[in-house]
Amino acid sequence: MKPLAEGEWVRLTDAKGRRHNFELKPGAEFSTKKGQIRHDDILGRPEGIVIQSSLGGDYQVFRPLLHEYVVSMPRGAAIVYPKDVGQILMWADIAPGLTVVEAGAGSGSLSAYLLRALGPDGHLGSYEIREDFAQKARENVAQSLGTVPDHWHLTIGDLREAVTETEIDRLILDLVDPWTCIPLALDRLVPGGIICAYVATTTQLSRFVETLRETGGFTEPRAFETLQRDWHLQGLAVRPEHRMNGHTAYLAIARRMAPGEHTLERYRRPAPGAYGPDYTGPRPFGWQPPEDEPDGA
Ligand SMILES: C[S@@+](CC[C@H](N)C(=O)[O-])C[C@H]1O[C@@H](n2cnc3c(N)ncnc32)[C@H](O)[C@@H]1O
Repeated sequence: MKPLAEGEWVRLTDAKGRRHNFELKPGAEFSTKKGQIRHDDILGRPEGIVIQSSLGGDYQVFRPLLHEYVVSMPRGAAIVYPKDVGQILMWADIAPGLTVVEAGAGSGSLSAYLLRALGPDGHLGSYEIREDFAQKARENVAQSLGTVPDHWHLTIGDLREAVTETEIDRLILDLVDPWTCIPLALDRLVPGGIICAYVATTTQLSRFVETLRETGGFTEPRAFETLQRDWHLQGLAVRPEHRMNGHTAYLAIARRMAPGEHTLERYRRPAPGAYGPDYTGPRPFGWQPPEDEPDGA
C-alpha cells in the first residue's frame, strides 16, 4: 500500500458523482458546498477511503486515473478521447522501445498515453505549431505522469519542417490536414512502419485516404470509428444508457511498404462511379478507368 502523500493529486467523488480534484498539501483545506475538507484527513492514508467534510458530506478518495485526468485537464486544443487512444495504441501497435512521432501535441492527452506505452527505451517526438499549446501539453504531461519523461522530445514547430527523426516506426497525425504529412511519411517511416490519422470529419478522412492511395508506397488504408455505449444495470433494468458521446473522430491506418514496392490490395476494383466524373479528389496510384466505364463513371 502506497499512502497518499504531499504533492499528489486526489480525486474526490460524492454519492451523486460530483467530482473534485486537488493537490495534497499539509494543513490545507478544500471548500465544497458541504463545508471544508481537511487535507490532513487524507494525507498518509490509502486510496479508496471515505472521508467527511465539516458539514457532513461523504467523499470517496482515489488517485485520478489517466483517462479521468485527460478529460478534465486544462485544454488548449481538443484532445484525443480515451476510447480512441485505446484504438490508436492497439492499431498503431505502440510498444516499448519504438520511435514514435506525433503532431500536434495539442493538450498532451495522446502524448501522455504514448509516453507510458513506449517506456523509457522508446522515443516520442511530439510537434506542436503553437507555443501556448505546447506549453499546455508540457504542463499536462508533467502533472498526469508526475514528471516530464526523458524519452519525450517536444518541439515547437510545424511537423513538416521541424521533424528531426529519420527512422520513424509510427507516425500519429492529429492535425487538420494530415494528408500534407504523407510525403514526410514516405521519406521517414521505416518499411512496415505505421501511419495513423485521427480526423473529425468525413471529408478529411476521404482526402487523407485518397492521398495515401494516390501517393503509393502504403498498404490499403483501413478506416473506422469507435462508439462506446455505456450500460445501465439495476436488477431487471438492464439497458443502454440514454446518453452517449455520439462522435469524436475517425481513424485511418496504413503501413509503409518497402521502398519501390506498391501494395497489391490497391488494385481491387473500385465501386462503379467511385471515381466518376463527380469525383474531383486524388485518384489511387496506378488507377485506370474500368474498360466498360471509359470515363470511370
Ligand atoms: C486536435 S489538436 C491535437 C490534440 C492532441 N493530440 C491531444 O491529444 O491533446 C491539433 C493540434 O495540431 C496543431 N497543429 C496543426 N498543424 C500542425 C503542424 N503542421 N505541425 C505541428 N502541429 C500542428 C494545432 O496547433 C493543434 O494544437
